Amino acid sequence: MLQGSHTEMHLFLVIAFFLTVATAYYIYTPLPSAISEPWKVMLLDAGIRFVVKMGYLVDDLGLSHHTRVLNFAVDHLEVLAPHSSEGVSVSDTVFAGLQVRVFESTRELRGQLKRGLLYFHGGGWAIGSGSKWKGETTTNIGMRSYDQLCRRMAQELDAVIVSVDYRLAPDVVFPGQYHDAIQAAWHFLQPEVLARYSVDPGRVGVTGDSAGANLGAAVAHEVAMDSQAPIKFRVQALIYPVLQALDFNTPSYQQNQAVPILYRPLMARFWLEYLGGDPSYIQPLLANDHAALDVSQLTSHRDKLNWTRLLPATVRKNYEPVVPLRGSVQMLEELPGLTDPRAAPLLAEQEVLTQAPPTYILTCEHDVLRDDGLMYGRRLEEAGVAVSYDHHEDGFHGCLSFAFWPAYLEVGIRCVQNYICWLGENL
Ligand SMILES: *[C@@H]1O[C@H](CO)[C@@H](O)[C@H](O)[C@H]1NC(C)=O
Repeated sequence: MLQGSHTEMHLFLVIAFFLTVATAYYIYTPLPSAISEPWKVMLLDAGIRFVVKMGYLVDDLGLSHHTRVLNFAVDHLEVLAPHSSEGVSVSDTVFAGLQVRVFESTRELRGQLKRGLLYFHGGGWAIGSGSKWKGETTTNIGMRSYDQLCRRMAQELDAVIVSVDYRLAPDVVFPGQYHDAIQAAWHFLQPEVLARYSVDPGRVGVTGDSAGANLGAAVAHEVAMDSQAPIKFRVQALIYPVLQALDFNTPSYQQNQAVPILYRPLMARFWLEYLGGDPSYIQPLLANDHAALDVSQLTSHRDKLNWTRLLPATVRKNYEPVVPLRGSVQMLEELPGLTDPRAAPLLAEQEVLTQAPPTYILTCEHDVLRDDGLMYGRRLEEAGVAVSYDHHEDGFHGCLSFAFWPAYLEVGIRCVQNYICWLGENL
């Protein structure tokens, strides 16, 4: 009897030990030493990795698309119904057939008009939709982090923030998301709509993070080039934007391929799903096969993302361009979005960039997309546009979303402060 319980106890300790080691092993990820609060980042990353892996498993079993699993998790952990708070009135409404959430500062400005901002959320053009909240459909725009961010912007900038629920992959692929974004922009930029929200037509900006910043830049180009549009954006503010899919081997893609939370293959997969490509293209995409030297269709684009020219030596370090001699034109033919500036705003012509509004670009050192932002900034400068860079040496992709409860990540909090501060001075 005594002997038996002793053995059981022993077995229990052995199992507990291995479970602890396995958990620690799963959570532990080697991080660049510059990243602060590493254990918080590892925990967040482990949680996200777990959900992403579950998604792939469900996908491999043929049960559902992997982003639906991600969205299921997001819906249950993150989505909030609209609710007003001190100083901010929040409501869901419809712009040009699209669901939007409007955050309005309620401060009395003695007849003065407010600033206006169109916000496009991130999530790889795929994450965050289709849930039910007390019988009503709510969406990514209700995600806690975006809710917190938009609420704060409305309050601190005395602004009206319109967060757009554009449709998502896999239900919709490019140009669907872009089309939704531009429809929302044209709707908001009408004089009578701005007047209804007491927004100053001279102080309307466009902004977003990650895939949302991609849509923001594409929309900014379109609006800037439209000679019929009476109201233009005063600024564009881009948070770690994704801007091109022709080079998956920029120095930042090479340097940060294994840094949480946006791993290099995951970004390639998001691109393929946005452009409607087969997931089997991931490997050739990562090898830059679609941008090989013998692909003559790219001649007019190469200079726009030639990072040996566009990036300073301190950023290029010793990284070498990856340009295969021979590649495949099949991907470019099947996925015209790869060379479409509406999907890849870095490929816009200089005449277009010249018309872009003053631009803020937030980049993180430990982000595969760092160089997308830096190259775009350089090209805008060459086109004569004023660019403000806000680079975070200890930042990683997505850190802004962790500035709020429950993570309160210090680097994210600093990003939010700088971003709102820039808008305060420039919008
Ligand atoms: C990129 O620019 C550099 C410097 O201007 C030039 O030497 C190089 O040939 C360019 N590379 C490509 C692929 O166009």
